[in-house]
Amino acid sequence: MWLWLILVLSALLAISLFIVLYLRNKHPEPHYNWEEIDLNAISFPEKFQWGTATAAHQVEGHLSNNWSDFEEKNDFERSGAACDHWNRWKDDFDMLTNLGLSTYRFSIEWSRLEPTEGTWNQEAMEQYSSMIDDLLERGIRPVVTLHHFSHPIWWEEKGGFANRNNIPSFLNYCEKVFDALSDRVDVWCTINEPTVFSTMGYTLGQFPPGKRSILLTTKVMKNLMRAHAEVYHSLKEKKPDAVIGLAKNVTLFDPLNRWSPIDWIVSRILDYLWNGAWRKGILKGKMLGSRIPKAKNSLDFIGLNYYTHFLTGLFMPTSTEELEFAKRDHEISTEFGYPMYAEGFRRAMEFVSPLSVPIEITENGVADENDTLRPEHLKRHLWIVSEAIKDGFDIRSYHHWSLMDNFEWAEGYKMRFGLHAVDFDNQQRKLRKSGKIFQDIISKNG
Ligand code: GAL
Repeated sequence: MWLWLILVLSALLAISLFIVLYLRNKHPEPHYNWEEIDLNAISFPEKFQWGTATAAHQVEGHLSNNWSDFEEKNDFERSGAACDHWNRWKDDFDMLTNLGLSTYRFSIEWSRLEPTEGTWNQEAMEQYSSMIDDLLERGIRPVVTLHHFSHPIWWEEKGGFANRNNIPSFLNYCEKVFDALSDRVDVWCTINEPTVFSTMGYTLGQFPPGKRSILLTTKVMKNLMRAHAEVYHSLKEKKPDAVIGLAKNVTLFDPLNRWSPIDWIVSRILDYLWNGAWRKGILKGKMLGSRIPKAKNSLDFIGLNYYTHFLTGLFMPTSTEELEFAKRDHEISTEFGYPMYAEGFRRAMEFVSPLSVPIEITENGVADENDTLRPEHLKRHLWIVSEAIKDGFDIRSYHHWSLMDNFEWAEGYKMRFGLHAVDFDNQQRKLRKSGKIFQDIISKNG
């Protein structure tokens, strides 16, 4: 009897050891000795595009949408005037020119264009149109995101992306914008960070609509994929040479203890739900048990947003209050709490490369009010981009998040991601040291 028990336990131990060794080998977690790396040894192709990114709700100000509604109802910090960019956009575009940028990613605010269902605000559309003309005059390529976390209240009340029947009205909005701007805008992101939107809004409840249900989360994930696919095909039909993709946040999930089978299981499950299921949707037209045939190959480029890796273990947080960001001993924490892990940027590129489309870095940056970490953060991440290009990755652009400090969603104005610091009392903008470094790198293309 004892002998059997010992035999069974030994077999189990051997199997888990085998699995752990296999996973350790299959998913390495590289850490470089940054002291030994010459961060100045970077170079970029002549046509490489340098940019920054923003999103409407975070900069425009005075919006009435699902987010402002959520801020009020939950007594979150209000976005309010934000950067008052809706009024100051010309001056803000001077900052793009001053940085020497050749591309700018920003989003269109649906709630401005269609504040109530079926009523269209032509003036707002004209302003977006003027913004695009202005960018083009400056020699800056506009990259337009159609949905960056915010949408009209009337659409939220109908269930937003949780209700599949709402996709046609989203499509209608996208088509309207496309009809008005696609004579001048070539590059489009349908949806920003579908996994962040669905997890934060429907699992962790920190984004609108503040729900906490795994079932709803998967439903929303699939509807976002369906919506993206519908928009992709409809816009391509209108203009076959339009370049349409989406912005995917690739967060890596690594086991806290690389010898623990449980930590490995948790990290692989989360990685699949966050990254793998989504990639499968695009590659196979199947996602989380549903067939979404139109999603297959519905990308002309992939927008990659990269910030960090999460170290996961048995303890799984179910709300952001419980969310503690673990880090390796030698890693540096960012102000957001998660570690700076530039090595993961390369892994994120490797993750999206089976999609076989060009990569645009649509976001990368760090919360750092005093600009103590951002210079190093920027240099490390640009070194990774430069190396990846040398190794054959087709990376077309780098958009830093963000042009200026802005409303950081559930974190309010606490987190400062800007190359320009913003004083929200008087709306003064000031180029940070890291902004000057970026400017210098752009001017030398390396
Ligand atoms: C991304 C998001 C941006 C910005 C950034 C910094 O997830 O797309 O809007 O908030 O994170 O945390």
